[in-house]
Amino acid sequence: MIKKLYIILIFLIILFSCKKNEVSSILYTNNISIYNNQTNDNPLLIPPLLENKSKNSNEVHYELTVQKGEYEFVKGTKVITYGYNGNYLGPTIRAKKNQKVKIKIANKLREYTTVHWHGLLVPGEVDGGPHQIINPDGEWNPEFIIIQPAATAWYHPHGIGNTAIQVYKGLAGLFIIDDEVSENLNLPKDYGVDDIPLVIQDKRLTSDGVPLYLTNMNDIMEGMKGNTILVNGVVNPYLDVATMKYRFRLLNGSNARTYNFRLSNREEFYQIAADAGFLEKPVNLQELRLSPGERAEIIIDFSKNKKGNIIYLESGNFEIIKFRVNKIVKDNLIIPEKLTEIEWLKMRDSNQFRNFRLEGMGPHVSINGKIYDMNRIDEVMNLNNTEIWTLTSTNGGMMGMMRSSSGMLHNFHAHGIHFQILERNGKEVPENEKGWKDTVLIEENEKVKIITRFLYKGLFMYHCHVLEHEDNGMMGQFVVE
Ligand code: C2O
Ligand code: CU
Ligand code: CU
Repeated sequence: MIKKLYIILIFLIILFSCKKNEVSSILYTNNISIYNNQTNDNPLLIPPLLENKSKNSNEVHYELTVQKGEYEFVKGTKVITYGYNGNYLGPTIRAKKNQKVKIKIANKLREYTTVHWHGLLVPGEVDGGPHQIINPDGEWNPEFIIIQPAATAWYHPHGIGNTAIQVYKGLAGLFIIDDEVSENLNLPKDYGVDDIPLVIQDKRLTSDGVPLYLTNMNDIMEGMKGNTILVNGVVNPYLDVATMKYRFRLLNGSNARTYNFRLSNREEFYQIAADAGFLEKPVNLQELRLSPGERAEIIIDFSKNKKGNIIYLESGNFEIIKFRVNKIVKDNLIIPEKLTEIEWLKMRDSNQFRNFRLEGMGPHVSINGKIYDMNRIDEVMNLNNTEIWTLTSTNGGMMGMMRSSSGMLHNFHAHGIHFQILERNGKEVPENEKGWKDTVLIEENEKVKIITRFLYKGLFMYHCHVLEHEDNGMMGQFVVE
């Protein structure tokens, strides 16, 4: 109780002091715009595909160096960033189902890091969570076999207390999995040409392009939200498109911001994949919500446009990326009606029920009343077992105080498993969430039921993917044995 009053007091003091100093000052705003209106458009960059060093088609060999870099978010201002094999973000890794993946990772930072494969089903000891530390000048050589269907996954650091800042500095990359289904479907699949990755992040940049981190109370309570959107590291990005259908692989790689994607012309688009694989059939959407860590593959149809048309992918009242229609072509692609077949887990196969209660905000976050402890196992599961979990989220009644801000949400992500959502507040799940997932948004006071099965042994994490919450201990560990 005293703690809560204390936080409210600090919050009020900061609120008043920032009112005085002009709320619009960059330090205090979580609203997008300062930058997005001022700079010129920049062409979208596409993360390069990482070169596979293996000659054997059953294996892929990759090399990653975690390094410090210099990057210009805004022309003329070089700032210190982190990247994998480069200055900011990382190359896209690709592997096929049943292939063996060998990755050699060298840490050239002056601090420790880890590399976690978010969305990959791999054994605990190669998962890259907080237990697989790579020290400065150290190396890590995980090997695993891809056992899951085609999907857009990603990789990022997962240390204790340094995940959020390392991701903010630039450590994140895509991991695309292919299989027979994805190869045979008639979908755009030319990487960087009509199959475009979009890593969406936000950063707080000063007017000359220097990133700031945790500068106000909202950042501390809700997680770091910036004033500028970056797509693949580019501020004010544009992409020239022809009058045809494009596939976009969306990753919300932001520390804390949730997006509600839609098109500026209010046309529908089609979601074809959720976090961990294809939906059974494409879902027409006007709006798509993605919380931190979630992915979606969508098809946008530009075929009915005229040359010169401009369409934005937007969220709320800000733009994410500008599409400039600059070429007329004949569009022959018909989106397949059926994408894949999903094995639906059955409630009657589950004999184990668990609850995960996400609670609090800022420095006082917990799951089931506990904060993360590396030396404590919170849950024990049996290999191949099916379980039903109920996820809930509450803010401990403090939300009213924070209404002035852009809102705070928790989500839930687990390592080592994929899950299916059974219901949201007792109601049916939206069509576009009927697929394999590994991260799910939980609204305040919502009850989300998921079903999952354990395919690998080992130690795994579950946590809120608002990275500042994760770093503050909104995380637990389970062992599959
Ligand atoms: Cu994307 Cu445990 O994280
Ligand atoms: Cu993960
Ligand atoms: Cu959270």
